[in-house]
Amino acid sequence: MGARYDKHDLYERCVQAPELVVPFLRRLHRGAPLVLGEDFCGTAALAREWVRSDPRASAIAVDHDAGVLARAAGAERVELVHADVRAVHAPCDVLFVGNFSIGELATREELLAYLRHAHARLCQGGLFVCDTYAGAGAWRTGGVERRHWIAPGVCVHYVWEQREVDVLASRVLNALSFRVEEQGEIVEEFRDAFLYRWRLWSARELRDALCEAGFEATDTADALGLEESAVCAAQASASDRTVIACVFGFRLGVRRT
Ligand SMILES: C[S@@+](CC[C@H](N)C(=O)[O-])C[C@H]1O[C@@H](n2cnc3c(N)ncnc32)[C@H](O)[C@@H]1O
Repeated sequence: MGARYDKHDLYERCVQAPELVVPFLRRLHRGAPLVLGEDFCGTAALAREWVRSDPRASAIAVDHDAGVLARAAGAERVELVHADVRAVHAPCDVLFVGNFSIGELATREELLAYLRHAHARLCQGGLFVCDTYAGAGAWRTGGVERRHWIAPGVCVHYVWEQREVDVLASRVLNALSFRVEEQGEIVEEFRDAFLYRWRLWSARELRDALCEAGFEATDTADALGLEESAVCAAQASASDRTVIACVFGFRLGVRRT
C-alpha cells in the first residue's frame, strides 16, 4: 500500500462543504461582508472558498498548527496566521468557527474570554458564527459511516465515531477515519486520522455566552442554511436524532477602539 492519499485532502472532501457554507454566511450577514475571519481554520478551506467566490473579498485564517496551515499556503487574499486564536486582533465582517471547533475551549471562562475577543474583532454589523451538535443522539457513543466517490472507481469510506461521552462533564471524544477503495480494493486506510477531545457546548449555552460577551442579537439556525431556529427546534422534538445547530451573534454597536 503506497501513500497516495492525504488525510487532510480526504477530510476536506468528506467533511467540509465550503461551497454551501460561504453563501449561507453571506445571507446570514444580510449586508455585503468582505472580510472573513476563519478561526480554528485547519486547512482554511472556508477562507479559500470565501475569496474564490468574490474577487473583492479577503480572509484571515488562524490556526496554532503550522503544519495544517501550510496546506493553504499561496492562496491569494488569504492571510494565514500561525497563532492561538486569542492572540489575533485583525478586524473582520464575519468570524467563523467551524466543525465544532468551539469545543476546543474547555471552560466557560475560556469560552467567554474568546467570545469577548471575537466581539472586539468584528466591525459594526459584524457576524460571529459557530456550530455545535445537540439532541439525545449527541450524548450517545456510536458512529456514522458514509461513502464518497471522489473519482471514477475511487470510493472513500468515511467513519465518524463518538467514542467516549462524559455526560456530567459535557465532554466527548470523537474519531474520524478514512478507508480508500479503488475498483473495490482497499488501497489505503487512515484509522483515527483525527481525534478530537471536546467540551460539547449546547446551543443555549453558546447563545447565553454570546449575550454575556456583548453580542446584541443572537439566534440559532440549521447548519446547512435553513433559515429559522424553528427548524432546529422542530427537528429536535421530532425525534431523538442528533441535530447540528449553527449559533450566531451580531455586533450592532459602534466599534470600540
Ligand atoms: C476540528 S479542526 C477544525 C478545522 C476547520 N475549522 C474545519 O472546519 O474543519 C480544529 C482546529 O483548531 C485548531 N486549534 C485548536 N485550538 C486552537 C487555538 N487555541 N488556537 C488556534 N487554533 C486552534 C487545531 O489545530 C485544528 O486545526
